[in-house]
Amino acid sequence: MTENKNENNRVLSGMRPTGRLHLGHYHGVLKNWVRMQSDYECFFFVADWHALTTHYDAPHTMNEHVWDMVVDWLAAGVDPEKATMFIQSRVPEHAELHLLLSMVTPLGWLERVPSFKDQQQKLKDKDLTTYGFLGYPLLQSADILMYRAGHVPVGEDQVPHVELTREVARRFNYFFGRGPDFEEQVAGAITQMGKKAAKSFKRLKQAFNEQGCREAHAEACELVIRQQNINQQQKDQLLGYLEGRGRAILPEPAALLTEAAKTPGLDGQKMSKSYGNTIALRDDPKRVGQAIRVMPTDPARVRLTDPGNPEKCPVWQLHKVYSDKDTRHWVQNGCKTAEFGCLECKKPLIDKILQEQEEIAERAKPYEDNPAMLREVIEQGNERAGTVARETMEIVRDAVGTIYR
Ligand code: TRP
Ligand code: SF4
Repeated sequence: MTENKNENNRVLSGMRPTGRLHLGHYHGVLKNWVRMQSDYECFFFVADWHALTTHYDAPHTMNEHVWDMVVDWLAAGVDPEKATMFIQSRVPEHAELHLLLSMVTPLGWLERVPSFKDQQQKLKDKDLTTYGFLGYPLLQSADILMYRAGHVPVGEDQVPHVELTREVARRFNYFFGRGPDFEEQVAGAITQMGKKAAKSFKRLKQAFNEQGCREAHAEACELVIRQQNINQQQKDQLLGYLEGRGRAILPEPAALLTEAAKTPGLDGQKMSKSYGNTIALRDDPKRVGQAIRVMPTDPARVRLTDPGNPEKCPVWQLHKVYSDKDTRHWVQNGCKTAEFGCLECKKPLIDKILQEQEEIAERAKPYEDNPAMLREVIEQGNERAGTVARETMEIVRDAVGTIYR
């Protein structure tokens, strides 16, 4: 139950610093970030600690990978005027929140996160029986909850992590949202709302608690949010009380599932660095043209006169990403009737990709030429993120009792 899922339109997402990004990242993630930055208050961060949970043996790569990745974000069109970009380890509050969340996170919850066993299987040559690796989804929970983000755009593999985040938030709120004088404070807040509102609130709470009436729940939330006589903390308390829990200190986020735009790699498999089949976001145009020209096509098309089937051709998959309706039509027809050869078919695709790459390169250039500008973007982002993080930690420390006056 995310009673305050619309309370904020804040979005948070992070990416491990893997170095230069490729078109799979671009179509799968970055374009989505760029789209969201105008509609939401976006926080995008470099998950450098997350990278260390699996790549603790490669600290020397971190620096370059981080900056290369951030340049690619900017090159893709993430706008520092609109979105806040920062580095996780530069907001060390993430570590403190991670620690505090760990106090109420049962081991079993972490052990049953699918990625825990999956990754251990996949990366067999690496020792992932570490404390850090087990805890990394919880670190992710801290990342999300720190910004009280309502929405977390992620791919399918990350949905269980957002689910864990919701469970952890609920448990945290349950333990820490209810101070010893919770009941008293709630009673005070209800009185403070005024007679009429108090009466409505009680009636709606009863309808929700006893009959499970959802409309009553929604109405009660609205009523509380609308109140002018009580402060935000009191509102949080009432919203928690409404559901029979404590104050919602950490709001539960919702996953925003990014529809998986599958970008095929140069060999037709999914584009991935580990397959060596990528086109980088900032690639050498000559290499890109050449790589596409030698890309495999439908094996049935041995000779120019052999008709083919686009469904069996990775080049068609790229056309689906890049080409307009007319061109796609042209490909379908021409391929099936052997009207032209594969090289011909690839031409408009190469043009489109190179044109896109030119725009990307243009946006990257100022940052490549002037690294100080890049550092500045991140400095400012770290500041902004830090401000929010410090606010959240004030509330959290207060809740867990580690404020000493
Ligand atoms: N775990 C994510 C990944 O491996 C990266 C990540 C870390 C993240 N913290 C996050 C994504 C918070 C979204 C929100 O891709
Ligand atoms: Fe693929 Fe185009 Fe060749 Fe058909 S004509 S096999 S779609 S490259």
